Amino acid sequence: MNRNTDFIPFAKPSLGTEEEEAVIRVLRSGWLTTGTEARNFESEFKKYTGTKNALAVNSATSGLHLALEAFGIGPGDKVITSPYTFTATAEVIRYLGADPLFVDIEDSSFNISTREIEKVLKKNSSVKGIIPIHIGGRPCNMKAIMNLKAEFNLTVIEDAAHSFPVKSREGFMGTIGDAGVFSFYATKTITTGEGGMVVTNNREAAKRISVMRLHGIDREIWDRYRSSKPSWEYSIVDAGFKYNMPDTAAAMGREQLKKAAGFYRTRKNIADFYFRKLEDLDFLTLPKKAENHAWHLFMPKIIPEKLTISRDEFIAELMDRGIGISVHYIPLHIMPYYRKKYGYKPEDFPETLKAYTNVFSLPVYPGLSEEQLERIASAVIDTGFKYRRTSNG
Ligand SMILES: Cc1ncc(COP(=O)(O)O)c(C=O)c1O
Repeated sequence: MNRNTDFIPFAKPSLGTEEEEAVIRVLRSGWLTTGTEARNFESEFKKYTGTKNALAVNSATSGLHLALEAFGIGPGDKVITSPYTFTATAEVIRYLGADPLFVDIEDSSFNISTREIEKVLKKNSSVKGIIPIHIGGRPCNMKAIMNLKAEFNLTVIEDAAHSFPVKSREGFMGTIGDAGVFSFYATKTITTGEGGMVVTNNREAAKRISVMRLHGIDREIWDRYRSSKPSWEYSIVDAGFKYNMPDTAAAMGREQLKKAAGFYRTRKNIADFYFRKLEDLDFLTLPKKAENHAWHLFMPKIIPEKLTISRDEFIAELMDRGIGISVHYIPLHIMPYYRKKYGYKPEDFPETLKAYTNVFSLPVYPGLSEEQLERIASAVIDTGFKYRRTSNG
């Protein structure tokens, strides 16, 4: 293999001339920061997801921070989330002086266990909210979570970084809780390079987010310079943040949004392909099939008793064969910061630890060719058979 030309990257954005032309249009317009492109992106996103308010921001991390802030999470509060996530989900809770309270995942879905949430809620009166994460694009049990919200009077902010553009029985993922936050990071299902969107049906919260995403200024920057009432005057109503989305990114996002349904179909086909090819292997557990899954990630687990090599060695072998592999996630509770701050031990969340020990993520993106997909499947199959444990050891 020629590693430079034949290596199949783990992730690759799907961008075409439409995105190029949109960005060039903005570059030539004389207006680069938040303006009409961002506004149009928000209206189009609102329509797409069926929410009352969509607020474009420069990342999902900033969107999660703003959403928690807008719903009043503050010092001393506890917010339940899962340790099986990217650090952004939990760090935003710390930004506000609140504390994450980790709850284990369900074995089969990688998503937070609603049964475990209920147990924790019965013991903790300082819990103010839940951040469920639709891991890899698989919808959490939002029905159960919304029932717990009602029973314990909680705020629910969906981390929908992986789940665009999927509808479940309860509605469009990300629009079911009090607010939802999507990521347009370079590897996500649609991208603006860096970027995110907060959606909420709560008008007050939307207003707060719109003010706090831009320094706590009470008027949008566009209004100040370009509306029919130009004005140099503005008021600062709070110490806000600098989280607005520039028009260069928004223009790209608008084009990606038009392609989102097509991308989704392709990712579903890729997942179907992996299921067909890898289903019968006795050394792998494939993710559970699901109707409403965004397939941002395809996460099989090795069955360690069936192999003579570890998960890390399995990944190294696939990488050597030219396949980009990743791991989602190294659990937060085993990270030095969370261990030191909260005294978590690895065995505190057994399902999370077990999943992490055996999991790996295969490439899933619309640009993968059939030949590349065949190569990925063959590499997994060949590696498994090469290191398969025989009955006599
Ligand atoms: C589950 C999850 N939440 C939040 C984020 C943060 O997204 P962003 O990079 O847009 O801030 C990520 C990013 O990878 C993520 O995977």
